Amino acid sequence: MAFIALEGGDGTGKTTQLRLLQERWGDLFPNQECIFTKEPGGGSSFSHKIRELALNDEHAGEASPGAIFGLMVASRLEHLDSLVVPALNEGKVVITDRFEAATWAYQLSGQEGRYLAPLYHAHREVIRERLPEGQRVQVLILDLDPEAALGRLQIRDGESNHFDLRTPEFHERVREGLREYQSTIEPKAIFIDASGSVEEVHQAVVEHIRTML
Ligand code: TMP
Repeated sequence: MAFIALEGGDGTGKTTQLRLLQERWGDLFPNQECIFTKEPGGGSSFSHKIRELALNDEHAGEASPGAIFGLMVASRLEHLDSLVVPALNEGKVVITDRFEAATWAYQLSGQEGRYLAPLYHAHREVIRERLPEGQRVQVLILDLDPEAALGRLQIRDGESNHFDLRTPEFHERVREGLREYQSTIEPKAIFIDASGSVEEVHQAVVEHIRTML
């Protein structure tokens, strides 16, 4: 079993990488059953409702960092109990599109909710307690200059949320927050340069995952 989180700012190519990985997983790692999931919203329909509130409610863009923080943590705890922990206990690999690093990057750094740090550290303690013995989240971070990342966002299809529409300064703080997450919270988090081609980044992601299984 392994619990892996893929993180990165909006437009860094995370969704494309996860789709490729999912398509090729059976050939790459034939003996490892893997569940792909995401935050916020993974696990149960209740968790999905929390996602809708945090990202798509008409007032979500004006909400305080503390309110969004609470919703992200609520969705995470629901996700852990309803999907992640049972799957890990069955010996499966779980790969999540975003996890705790996103909260540091978006709510504490991007939204400048620094006052949330004690709650942030407490929620990490709770996660550690909930995960099966000896299990921790292994973090991969796709890193890309926000200018290039936001350019990609403009040409991508699909839903956007109020974070996608924020200023370049906000997205720079998110990137900085991910660096801070690695330097002050989780030194084992791995940065991957996401400026290469889709195939180059895919190869890097696969090589790191190989070492994590
Ligand atoms: P996505 O599913 O397209 O990646 O969108 C999820 C959005 O939610 C993204 O803009 C980042 C944001 N987010 C937070 O602000 N805090 C969090 O803790 C998580 C998991 C995501």
